[in-house]
Amino acid sequence: MATNITFHPGSVGSSERIDLLKQKGVTIWLTGLSASGKSTIACALEQHLLHLRKFSYRLDGDNVRFGLNKDLGFDEVSRNENIRRIGEVAKLFADACAITITAFISPYIADRALVRELHEKSSLGFIEVFVDAPLEVVEGRDPKGLYKKARTGEIKDFTGISAPYEAPPNPEIHLKTNELDVTQSVAVIVDYLTSNGFI
Ligand SMILES: Nc1ncnc2c1ncn2[C@@H]1O[C@H](COP(=O)(O)OP(=O)(O)OP(=O)(O)O)[C@@H](O)[C@H]1O
Ligand SMILES: [Mg+2]
Repeated sequence: MATNITFHPGSVGSSERIDLLKQKGVTIWLTGLSASGKSTIACALEQHLLHLRKFSYRLDGDNVRFGLNKDLGFDEVSRNENIRRIGEVAKLFADACAITITAFISPYIADRALVRELHEKSSLGFIEVFVDAPLEVVEGRDPKGLYKKARTGEIKDFTGISAPYEAPPNPEIHLKTNELDVTQSVAVIVDYLTSNGFI
C-alpha cells in the first residue's frame, strides 16, 4: 500500500471538461457468460458511436489480459483483481469523457458492485448490461471451442461449467441475445443512452 501520496487535482474540472468536449463520459458494463455476445455487441456499439462522432472506447476481455492484466489467472482472487483494475481503467476513461464499453464475463455481483461504487463516488454514470442467453445456447455457439474444453476438464474454473456466474438482479439493461440480433441489442443500448442524455 502506497503512503505519502497526494491527489493532484487538474486545472480543468469535470463539468468544464464535459462542456469543452461536449460529451459526458459513462461506462457501459457488459456482463454475461462466455459466448453470450459481449464482444460482438461491444464492437458493433463502438462502431455505431464512432460513426456518430462520439468519443467511444472498448475494453475487452482477452485484449486486457494480453497486457495490463497478463499477470492474472482465472481463480477467484485473480478474477476479483482483474475486474478491480479494469473498473479503475474504465473510470479513468469515463472521467476523460469517453463512452467506455467493457466486455468482461465479470461473474461476481460483488466485483461489479465495487466498480459501480467507484463510478458513483466520482459522479460518473455506470450502466450495467446483462448480456443473457441460456447455457445450452452459448454452449451451442462456442465460437472459441472453450465450452468443449471446459467439459473435458482441459480448462478449469470455466464460468457456467465449473465456476459460478452470478446474474445481475437489477441491471439497467437486460439483453436476451437468443431473442435479439446484434443490431437490435445495439439499438436498445443506444436508446438508453439517448433517453438518459449521454448522446
Ligand atoms: N444475437 C446475438 N448477439 C450476439 N452474438 C450472437 C448472437 N447470435 C449469435 N451470436 C454469436 O455468438 C458469438 C458470441 O461471441 P462473443 O465473442 O461476442 O461472446 P463473448 O460474450 O464476448 O464471450 P467471451 O466472454 O468468451 O469473450 C459470436 O460468434 C456471435 O456471432
Ligand atoms: Mg468477448
